Amino acid sequence: MRIVITGSDGQLGRALAQTLALRHESIALPRRDLDVTDRANIARLAELKPDIVAHCAAMTNVDGAARDPMAAFRVNAFGAQNVALACQRCDAALLYISTNEVFDGKKAAPYLEHDAPHPINAYGKSKLAGEWYTRHLLKKFYIVRTAWLYALGGGKFPDKILELARRSAALSVVRDEIGSPTYVPDLADALAQLLETEQYGIYHLVNAGTCSRYEWAVEILRCAQVPRPVKPITLAEYSRASPPPPNGALENFAAATLLNIKLRAWQDALAAAFTET
Ligand SMILES: NC(=O)c1ccc[n+]([C@@H]2O[C@H](COP(=O)([O-])OP(=O)(O)OC[C@H]3O[C@@H](n4cnc5c(N)ncnc54)[C@H](OP(=O)(O)O)[C@@H]3O)[C@@H](O)[C@H]2O)c1
Repeated sequence: MRIVITGSDGQLGRALAQTLALRHESIALPRRDLDVTDRANIARLAELKPDIVAHCAAMTNVDGAARDPMAAFRVNAFGAQNVALACQRCDAALLYISTNEVFDGKKAAPYLEHDAPHPINAYGKSKLAGEWYTRHLLKKFYIVRTAWLYALGGGKFPDKILELARRSAALSVVRDEIGSPTYVPDLADALAQLLETEQYGIYHLVNAGTCSRYEWAVEILRCAQVPRPVKPITLAEYSRASPPPPNGALENFAAATLLNIKLRAWQDALAAAFTET
């Protein structure tokens, strides 16, 4: 298949372009080659005649989105609308990558694909708007929600914890924010499988299991063999521009049950990240 990847300089876009190139014609488009907010790019994207557009481009700075919600909507909502319109024009399927932050985090268990979204911050609202355009403009789409994405060296939570550990004798990490840490290469593999199924719909693709930020930090330091005391604190003690959903954990119910697409436990993925890097 001919698969175009938007946002291909991002952590997921890069990994997905590499994974897809093993079996498909993969056309990687970083922001400098295709800005999804530019309406003129609807025609340019359609002219590439892709079978699938894997839309990985997004404004992912959640605190930045809280400070400037219009910027988040321009990229995450209207950018997704442009990409969906391009898919409509050339009859391509769309893979829209979404987020656990479309949920409010009040549920006592991990969120399933059919749970009702109710975002509590600008980033989540802008990503849900992108889902809305995808669903309303297209028949052939995969909406894949994921969470807490990381690859070592990508500047995300594990790198931040290791950087803090280098600079301080002890760390304080939130214990009442729950999520599903997901290793980017595992997600890229699962997406590559999903894209071959033509089983369109909404999926949650995350490494199996859930943990708090605190538990994740403890495991990161253990894997990195950097012993540091970690003090559990509360969300209320850690002020952020963008309040996260307290329970942002997702369960891969649909892909695991219907398609046998499963990701390993988050602890195994984290250990692999340290041995592979
Ligand atoms: N990171 C997470 O924890 C997480 C969790 C759940 C879901 N997701 C979703 O997963 C997807 C991939 O995220 P990621 O972690 O790979 O993020 P990332 O590393 O920040 O990559 C996003 C890419 O999109 C590009 N981009 C931003 N605005 C653009 C525009 N107007 N036109 C074209 N490209 C643009 C960025 O380019 P610049 O670097 O030049 O801005 C960057 O290369 C996103 O849809 C995100 O919402 C991420």
